[in-house]
Amino acid sequence: MNVKNLEEILNRNRSYTNQGETANYIPELAYANPQQLGITVCTPRGEVISVGDCEVEFTMQSISKVVNLIVAVLDNGPEQVFSKVGMESSGEPFNSVAELETKAENKPLNPLINAGAIAVSSMIKGRDVEEQFQRVCTFLSKITGKENITLNERIYESEKLTGDRNRSLAYFMKSTGVIDTNVEEALDLYFRLCSISVTCSDLAKIGLFLSTGGKIQGEILHKNMPKAVQIALSIMLTAGLYNESGETMMKAGIPAKSGVSGGIMAAPPNEMGIGIIGPAINSKGNSAAGVKILEDLSSEYNLHVF
Ligand code: DON
Repeated sequence: MNVKNLEEILNRNRSYTNQGETANYIPELAYANPQQLGITVCTPRGEVISVGDCEVEFTMQSISKVVNLIVAVLDNGPEQVFSKVGMESSGEPFNSVAELETKAENKPLNPLINAGAIAVSSMIKGRDVEEQFQRVCTFLSKITGKENITLNERIYESEKLTGDRNRSLAYFMKSTGVIDTNVEEALDLYFRLCSISVTCSDLAKIGLFLSTGGKIQGEILHKNMPKAVQIALSIMLTAGLYNESGETMMKAGIPAKSGVSGGIMAAPPNEMGIGIIGPAINSKGNSAAGVKILEDLSSEYNLHVF
């Protein structure tokens, strides 16, 4: 793999940016440039290859759900977490209200849809939202090697102001006992995590961390980390791209997680991390060009899990 190959893949898929639009249900996200496209790949030997608009900062959005899940599993153990949240892919949009009542006994189907991630947020340990948020940031800081993990205030305010769909999911879960803490605090933590600023290279480092079974510079920092990472990767493979997960599983076959800001973080099993940005998203909420790039990376470098 080298810069030239990655540039070729990027240019070959550039026209797919025209098949999507920037998310606008969170108004601040609409200002992103839909033509942007960038890829970073990291290897355990410390190689970092970046092409295109990879210096651009964007918010993690749903990619934060993976980190959120790992911290919650380390905090509570998998049994406790999955007593409140399911393990199945949903086949519905990421913010579906209907499926919460009609499927899986009022439990959100998995931790990567909005309802599941809000329920997971309510399980992160900490005295208050600030401490919970800082604990997740500290973990992210170790994974990415970035001292300061920061939140994009404009996006955070925009999310909070327009997050009524998420509020309705959260209050429903309070009524069924899935959330048994303060609902507004669980939502606030969720909004903050979605608003964390990253670049493609940060996403690639998260991918590499997952791909190595949870190692940070060769070390496993917590005895339950390999299990937590295995859980995260399994759910990414089956549900990371929402109702496009089956297709992506078949065509790319790489555990991946997308966000509505157009980021995709992927963790092929060959000890490699991939970060992609392409803010024009398709109707399923995934980067339109990003999913095509993932397919190409998979076929060119033999990254499919099967
Ligand atoms: O809660 C939301 O709707 C957003 N903050 C995150 C959703 C998201 O990223 C879905 N991803 N493709």
